[in-house]
Amino acid sequence: MATVHKTQRPKAKTAARSPILILFICISAIVFLCVYSSQLSTNGFSFSKMTIRNLMKPKHKRHHTLHDKYLYWGSRIDCPGKNCDKCAGLGHQESSLRCALEEAMFLGRTFVMPSRMCINPIHNEKAIFHRSDDGNMEERWAGTTCAMDSLYDLELISETVPVILDNSKIWYHVLMTSMKLGARGVAHVEGVSRVNLNDNRRYSNLLLINRTASPLSWFMECKDRKNHSALMLPHSFLPSMAAEKLRDAADKINDEPTDANEDYIYLVAKMARWWLKRTGLMIKALLVDYDSIHVRRGDRLKTRKDRYGVDRSLFPHLDRDTRPEAILCRIKNWVPPGRTLFIASNERTPGFFSPLAVRYNLAYSSNFSDILDLVVENNYQLFMVERLILMGARTFIKTYKEDDNDLSLTDDPKKNTKNWQIPVYTMEDQEC
Ligand SMILES: *[C@@H]1O[C@H](CO)[C@@H](O)[C@H](O)[C@H]1NC(C)=O
Ligand SMILES: *[C@@H]1O[C@H](CO)[C@@H](O)[C@H](O)[C@H]1NC(C)=O
Ligand SMILES: *[C@@H]1O[C@H](CO)[C@@H](O)[C@H](O)[C@H]1NC(C)=O
Repeated sequence: MATVHKTQRPKAKTAARSPILILFICISAIVFLCVYSSQLSTNGFSFSKMTIRNLMKPKHKRHHTLHDKYLYWGSRIDCPGKNCDKCAGLGHQESSLRCALEEAMFLGRTFVMPSRMCINPIHNEKAIFHRSDDGNMEERWAGTTCAMDSLYDLELISETVPVILDNSKIWYHVLMTSMKLGARGVAHVEGVSRVNLNDNRRYSNLLLINRTASPLSWFMECKDRKNHSALMLPHSFLPSMAAEKLRDAADKINDEPTDANEDYIYLVAKMARWWLKRTGLMIKALLVDYDSIHVRRGDRLKTRKDRYGVDRSLFPHLDRDTRPEAILCRIKNWVPPGRTLFIASNERTPGFFSPLAVRYNLAYSSNFSDILDLVVENNYQLFMVERLILMGARTFIKTYKEDDNDLSLTDDPKKNTKNWQIPVYTMEDQEC
């Protein structure tokens, strides 16, 4: 009898426990979903993004020593050259920086980066960001320079080409040592090709090569950029090396699923978010499955009068091609109606792109100012984040065609420094 009781009691217990257990599991699943998706809505946090972020994280911290060899191009990007007083825009400075980094790669040397980047005042107006505030158009971000490591992740760059900053301890060590060694430690070179610097034993064994003496802008050292086989770093290299803080901000805004996200937990999170959106619990709009356009206007529309007083432009179709009517026409086969379209532009007129709303759900970085205000301190940082969002879109349309596979708003070539032409405003074909 006793044995029967013993075997029956546990049976009764499991029977009683299982509905409670199921209820408990259900409740905890709901709680989990709520907590998880509220994290999604407050931080834009998700497992999938976390894995991408982790993949992007530098694997180990690099230690720079006096056993390495260094390359120094001076303390300011693009200076000497005509951009010394009034520094160039971010893209221009990046061309120069990329050129210097490529030389360091070629020579197998550590590149000494300027610790600050100069910010051109015309590229630092807040109006570009806060496009809906029409009161305060002239508001500017403070500062004419910003710290290089507030723009780029130096550890991440160092995985491709080692870099140090010119305010770092190791740089002072290198300076002291090269001073002590004199001509056995440092060469101040001017007009020596990188091939020569590499092959000539007079240079190749030195601790430091100082190229500051060159009177030309940095990017002039890479004049053969047209030769694609000579390129070591792609155009997208520096944009994708954004500082971690900026990458995180872009990740929070851009919740585009990527291949890595096709897992179960991601689907659950996505459903939870959809439900929160439906019920109005989630206020902040995130970009999920969107297309993007980068519309360069502003300084690019500059005209000058020829000797007959006629306006001429380096990009004769740009003003026409970057107006909303022309954009609607141009992108209609690339972006279906009803899509979310993220627009990054230096156009300052409030509501300039509003006509695009007849077909698309428009989004600007100003839609995400609650995220961006916390991290963005200047226009270069804002542009770094915007570029990551642009690149994360399903279809990304640039202003100019840069590569064969690019979609672009205009057919005017991006590079033109000489041929000033009369701007064209008529449309060749009236299809749209
Ligand atoms: C590099 O060279 C320039 C000019 O040749 C010189 O003024 C500067 O002090 C040098 N800097 C270093 C770190 O050697
Ligand atoms: C292009 O670059 C490659 C690699 O640096 C070089 O071998 C080749 O001679 C260059 N071609 C031209 C036309 O300059
Ligand atoms: C961005 O903001 C504008 C108005 O400020 C709004 O019409 C638009 O729907 C917003 N876009 C998204 C994707 O939330």
